[in-house]
Parts: sequence; C-alpha cells; structure tokens
Amino acid sequence: MTTRTTLALLFAAAGLLSACGGSDDNKPATVTTVTDPDTVADQRASALVAQMTLDEKIQLVHGVGTQTGPLGGAGYIPGIPRLGIPDYYTADSATGVYQAKNGVTVDNGATAMPSNIALAASWDTQLAYNYGSQIGKELRTIGYTEGLGGGVDLARELRNGRIFEYMGEDPVLAGYLIASRTTGTQDQKVVATIKHFAANDQETNRFTSNSIIDERTLRELQLLPFEIGIKQGKPGNVMCAYNLLNGIKSCENTYLLTDVLKTEWGYQGKVQSDWFMALTDTVRGANAGLDEEEGGSTDDSAGFYGVPTFFNQKLKAAIAAGTVPLSRLNDMVQRKLRTMIRLGIMDSPAPLGGTIDQAAGDVAAKAAAEQSMVLLKNATPAGATTPALPLNAATIQRIVVIGGHADVGVMAGGGSALTPPRGGNAVTCLNPAAMIGGQVTGCATWYKSSPLDAIKAKAPNATVTYLDGSDAAAAATAAANADVAIVFGTQWETEGGDLASLSLPDAVADPANQSYDQNALIAAVAASAKRSVVVLESGTAVTMPWVNNVHSVLEAWYPGTQGGAAIADVLFGTVNPSGKLPITFPVNDTDQPQKAISSTDLNVVYSEGLNMGYRWYDSQNITPLFPFGHGLSYTSFAYSGLTTAVDANGNLTASFTLKNTGLVAGAEVAQIYAALPAAAGEPPQRLIGWQKVQLAPGASTKVTVSATAERLAIWDITLHQWRIPAGTFSFTVGGSSRDPLALASKQAFAGKVLALTH
Ligand code: BGC
Repeated sequence: MTTRTTLALLFAAAGLLSACGGSDDNKPATVTTVTDPDTVADQRASALVAQMTLDEKIQLVHGVGTQTGPLGGAGYIPGIPRLGIPDYYTADSATGVYQAKNGVTVDNGATAMPSNIALAASWDTQLAYNYGSQIGKELRTIGYTEGLGGGVDLARELRNGRIFEYMGEDPVLAGYLIASRTTGTQDQKVVATIKHFAANDQETNRFTSNSIIDERTLRELQLLPFEIGIKQGKPGNVMCAYNLLNGIKSCENTYLLTDVLKTEWGYQGKVQSDWFMALTDTVRGANAGLDEEEGGSTDDSAGFYGVPTFFNQKLKAAIAAGTVPLSRLNDMVQRKLRTMIRLGIMDSPAPLGGTIDQAAGDVAAKAAAEQSMVLLKNATPAGATTPALPLNAATIQRIVVIGGHADVGVMAGGGSALTPPRGGNAVTCLNPAAMIGGQVTGCATWYKSSPLDAIKAKAPNATVTYLDGSDAAAAATAAANADVAIVFGTQWETEGGDLASLSLPDAVADPANQSYDQNALIAAVAASAKRSVVVLESGTAVTMPWVNNVHSVLEAWYPGTQGGAAIADVLFGTVNPSGKLPITFPVNDTDQPQKAISSTDLNVVYSEGLNMGYRWYDSQNITPLFPFGHGLSYTSFAYSGLTTAVDANGNLTASFTLKNTGLVAGAEVAQIYAALPAAAGEPPQRLIGWQKVQLAPGASTKVTVSATAERLAIWDITLHQWRIPAGTFSFTVGGSSRDPLALASKQAFAGKVLALTH
C-alpha cells in the first residue's frame, strides 16, 4: 500500500473525507467536516505518524544535545523535511530567553522579566498571561519552538535554591497563575512547559533525593498546582523531575505520568525528561509514560554529563525486542506533533534569528516588577506624622543609598532560570565563593538597571550619595546625616544548591574586598538613621533580626531588567505597591516544618503532611515574621457585607464590598479562605479564591469571587477521588491570611463526591 493510500484510508476512517456508501445511490454523499481543533490536530498527527519510519519516530523522541544545533539553547531535535515537520528548538525561559551555544551565552537582547516568585506576588492572572506572552513572543522571535519556563513546585522548603523560579507555597494561587502564564506563551505559537513534575522541592542531592509523601498530601498540595495548571493551561510539555517520588524516579513513575497525568487529568501533550539524570532506564521510562528524552546526545554510550541516551538506539532495540510496544512510541510522537499542529507551529514554524523589540520588553518587565513588589513594613518615624514611605521628592534633601551594588544594578537568580544580562554583568565577579557569602558557589548576575540612578532621577533637587556597604560605621554616620537611608540587602539563589539559611548572607562590595555582614550593616544604619528603608532583592523569604529597628521594608525580589526604575517608582509613590506574599516569611529558619536540609539522608519525608506553608504556621500556632498573603499599600482598604452561598454542586460565591479608605489610588488583593468542617481533618484554613481590585481614593465596589467545588474538596484516600466533606464551612475575606479585620461567614453543605473531570 502506498503512503498516499494509507493517508486517504486513515482520513476516511476518521470521517474527515466524504463517507460514500449507503443503499441509496441517488442521495448525495454526506461530507462530515471535523472542525474541533483538537480533533483536527489529533487526526493530522496520526496521519503523519502512520507515514513515519521507525528511525524517524526515534529521531523525534530524543534531543541531540544541549546548546547544539543552529540556534543553541537547552535542546534541539531535527525535523523531518519530507513530512513537513520542522526542526524543534527548545530554550530555557523561566524569566526570559536563555540562548547559549556550545558553552557561549548569546546576548540576543532578551528581556529579563522579574522572577516567578515575583510574578506570584502580584496575584494577577492577567499579568501572568502577559508575562508568558512576552516571553513567548521573544522565544518565537529568536526561532524557538518550546520554552522551558513554568516552574511550579511548591515552596515547601524555603531554603530550596530554586524558590525564585516557582510560584510560592499555595497550590491554588500557583495553579491559576501557571495556567495563565501557559496560555500567554502558547498564544504566541510557542509550546509552554510546566515543571518539574513532581515534588522537586530542594536542590540538595537533586538527582537522587526521594520525596516521601502520603497520597492525600500529594494530591491536595504537591500535585494540585500541576492539576490546575495542566487542565486549564493545556501546556504542550510537562517536564518530569530529577527526584524520586515515593521511591520511583519521577520520569519512570507510571502512577505520576500515566495514571494521574494522562489518564485521570486527560493530558494530551508530551512528557519530557529533565536534562541530565532524570531517566535511568529505557524500558521503565517509556512504559511509565515518558515521551521525550532530554538533553540527550548523538552518543548513545555517554552524552552530556557522561549520561547515556536512552531514547535513541536503546529505545529502537526495546521496540524490536517488544519490551516497549510500538504503540507507545507512536503515542510519544503523536503527542508532540498534535501540539505543534494545534498551536499552529507545524504550518508556521518560527523563522530563525529575528530581532527582539527591547523597548516593548522593557515596558512588560517594568509593569511586572511594579505589580510584584511587596511592602512588608511601613512605620512612622519618631517625630513624623506619616510613614517612612513613600518618599516625598519635594521635601527630602539628603538621601544615602547603601549596599547591594545599587549603584549599578539589580540582582538576578542563577542557573537555567537566568536570562543573560543585556550588555553583560553589571558587577564583575572575581571572587565567586565570597561573592555570595559562600552559601553556594558561582557568580551572581546583576542587570544594568541602577536603583541609585533612578532614585536620583526621582529627586533631582536632593543630594543623593552612595556607599558600598562594606564599612558599617561609615554607613551609620552617613545615615545619621541624611533625611533617609535606603539599604539594599541581597540574597542570591541558584539551581544546583540550597541556601544554608534564610538569613541575609555576607556580601562583597567589590570583588577585591572582604565580605561584610549585611545584617550588621542594616542594624548599624537603623540605629542612627532618622528614616531607614530596607530594599530586599531575594528569591525567597529573608529572616530579619533587625526588623523592629527599621521603619520600612520593601521586598523587590529579583526584579528583572527594569528593576532599578521600578524600585524607585515604588519608593517615591509613583506606583502604589500592591504585591502580597506568596510565601510565609518565618522568624527563624527552624520555624519551618523541615528543620534542616540533610545532605546525607536521601529520603525527604514530608512528615508535616497537609500542614505546609501557612497551613503549618496556622496549625502549630507559630507567629510568622510576615504571613502568607501579607502586603501593605500607601492607601487603606475596608471590607464590609460579606455574604456567601454554596450551590448544590459545591460551587461557592462570595460577595462583599471593598472600599479604598485612604488618600491615594491603589489595588487590593482580596483573599478568600475556607475552614473546612472539623471532621475533615484539614489544616485551619486554605486559600480558595481572590480578586485584585483597583480603587480610586474614597471609591468602593461590590466584589464577587467564585470558587469551583474542587476548592472545597479533600482527597479521599479510599475512593481515590475528590470529595467535599459534609458539615459547616467557614469563609473569611481579608487582605492577608492573618488579617485581623477579616470578615467571616458560615455555610452548611451536605457533602458530595466529585466526578473526575478533564
Ligand atoms: C533544570 C531544568 C532546565 C534544564 C535545561 C535542568 O537542570 O532542572 O529546569 O530546564 O536543566 O536547562
């Protein structure tokens, strides 16, 4: 049978071509046109698979190396021109396009957006869409098919070196944000990734650690952001993680990849291995549901990092031996092709080598940074009548800016989530170990976006001086002589290592200098300043032994390529801060459920069960430094008139009135938490919905927040299904998880088992 015949038969069988036949020859043939884009994509993909040789199929399911191919980047899979299948180029894109070729980073002008934890702090799904869309546009401009952003592992362990790449500690917040980010990217005809599936919550022993998690905790916490993100965002790619989950490598885990992801959640895209040691066995990986091996190499015996490639000749041999069914290989290919067709990539592959619109990128990066900064504290200095922030350029005469290399730039997180800095690193790294206080080794990157210059531009009539922070006594004297002292504290995170502590590490002012103690610097400045403001550039929570002695603390995260200007906008009130914490800031490291990260015990036991993140602090009655959901504004808000209703299916509607009771316009993230009936055995409260509302001074509005039934459900370990428990639910609405002014409302519900939906 020729290929052409095969194709025609296939289409006919699928009802795509006219269906002839029937007994009445006089009737015109009925033409059934399939229009559903998913069905069309599936049918076109299976027609292509039917035409492919075994070698061609094998070619499509493994990368041929990291930083290779015409574009460089994380991965490359050559296409099949005879079938119109284009080359497949993959780049890291957690914060922006990371292009590197043969070990050399390409300065392609890509925009560095703020880190993902910053995006999560915006609590803004539209912003998440824009963020994904901006990165998607730039990926496609360069020529990439797929972006590897989209980290959504939960912040169980705040010292995890990749917290800055993720979306915080709450599964619902993280899930909805990652769904929007995914849609934003895929609307640009670029395959989006959600990773690292699953429970990849620390970097220590990252290839071999074993996350041990009971079924209910796994479903209600670690898998839930993936479930929401994948069902709603429909990514073309899910990257499975390096770690083991309950004793089985994530990328060889049938329960995870097939039973839950593909069968239960109805996931149609492909599963891709993380890069180096995620896959250890061809048959186990293939039969568990892995669809693509990365990074891979052309060398089957020892590729990148000396790791053999499993989905090349070894897979071909397994197919020949029957240990991996051919249907499984066909499915691997089908999943890749259907996404390429569905997103329009097959018919319109990205041309290579376009020019990034940096000005447009800057606008997007600045907007994201401004909406993500969290004002943690803002006290009124002695003798003053208003809080320390915002600064008033008309009255301030002397400003001293101290530390954090704020004269030249803002810090970025490291590893594959870095977007290479346009025009190089603003800070020369001569002393990698000391540079970052010796917690992890490497060189931190600073983007050339100077907070000092931006502050000077805001206050043209003030005298603005800069001290590098290495001399605490000199900084204290300068602070005493200024109207305001702004100290920058930095904490660097990178893939591949965890933080020793959440305490600000020692920092190095210039590479030749000895390191200095950032906490001592802040304490010294606080002791003498009339008005002290701390700006933090961090990827996770920071402990603050000096918090009671400073007036204001602004968490700027790693704010991206426009960070300097965004920080100045918030300090001077051009932008009213509206970010809210997506993680709890504890007083001490050991307030966390996991007291320390073991470097020797590979078993990471999630013994806190459901009590993770704010659920832990709530259940243990531990007062955090700053609670989940916290964030101040330059205005104030009042909530009134909460009413709630739960319909027969368990869907909740909450309505209330929100008023801006202050003097300036501002946005409030109104958060709804639910306390489940006591018999359900849940932590005291969970976030079920929120809305970010912008209000003019004095204005008020009625806000309605809806939450689907799943948000009230628990995972039933007998039924292996979501179930809403019977009993009385309590709901609160407020401006944080511990807002003393939160309003409460109660609802009784009869209980319900939820159908499994895709
Ligand atoms: C990381 C992934 C990343 C990949 C490619 C891995 O080490 O865990 O997040 O996408 O490298 O650079």
